[in-house]
Amino acid sequence: MSEQERPYGGGTSDPALKRVRTRHFQRAKEQGIKITGLTSYDTLSARIFDEAGIDFLLVGDSAGNTVFGYDTTLPVTLDELIPLTRAVARSVARALVVADLPFGSYENGPDDALASAIRFMKETGCHAVKLEGGERSHKQIKRIVSAGIPVMGHIGFTPQSEHGLGGHVIQGRGDDGAEALMADAKAVEKAGAFAVVMEMVPSDIAGKVTDELSIPTISVGAGPHCDGQLMVWSDWAGFSRGRIPRFVKQYAQIGDTLLAAARAYKDDVDNAVYPGPEHEYGE
Ligand code: KIV
Repeated sequence: MSEQERPYGGGTSDPALKRVRTRHFQRAKEQGIKITGLTSYDTLSARIFDEAGIDFLLVGDSAGNTVFGYDTTLPVTLDELIPLTRAVARSVARALVVADLPFGSYENGPDDALASAIRFMKETGCHAVKLEGGERSHKQIKRIVSAGIPVMGHIGFTPQSEHGLGGHVIQGRGDDGAEALMADAKAVEKAGAFAVVMEMVPSDIAGKVTDELSIPTISVGAGPHCDGQLMVWSDWAGFSRGRIPRFVKQYAQIGDTLLAAARAYKDDVDNAVYPGPEHEYGE
């Protein structure tokens, strides 16, 4: 697919640049054009991903792990995510920016959910919000959408419920699992979401859900039959240390590059190699 054929232009150097809108997600599904997403939590990565033509950037509550150093996504708050989302939204010319509603900001009901979504929209300049849960979150999705705010759903493995789900467990397996996943997907679609993330779901089941839904499905470990793909950028770029999920393909080893650079810098300073004459100011 050439960049010119995309319904919403390619990277930011494309003269046919158009901002990606939720209607472009729909058009991409109808035309069989794959949608690409990455997480982003700061201006430097957001600018690069936008220039590369990544269609949407998710300021995920994975920031709880990647930015704030918590063990899970559960402690991260709206107040912590708002400045990160503002930085990302300010840095893109083309990509659609999606803000992730953190645990505790929408479960109490539709009023809380709308209030949290409004804070993101007013205080950050993001273009849409995401929240976890299928049938259990349909009222929240409906209320937010009715206020004119686009919502991306998130079903399958939902990290905010990892204790309820018994850990990082593949969802949608077996007849009952597949049925429950399909019911969640339909509830999200009916509530008015413009797209739905499916996380850690067998590829065949994800393919069936994708065929049944009219809105695009976005895979996080849900295989190739979904309408788009999303990865946590620090896993994708080899920045995260430790265990990486099976579904992640690493496109760089930034962590190793930074480690080698930091060691080389330390050696240079220890051995009076840096700064050299070329780094000094004269009078
Ligand atoms: O917070 C996040 O990064 C996410 C994706 C993994 C879907 O929710």
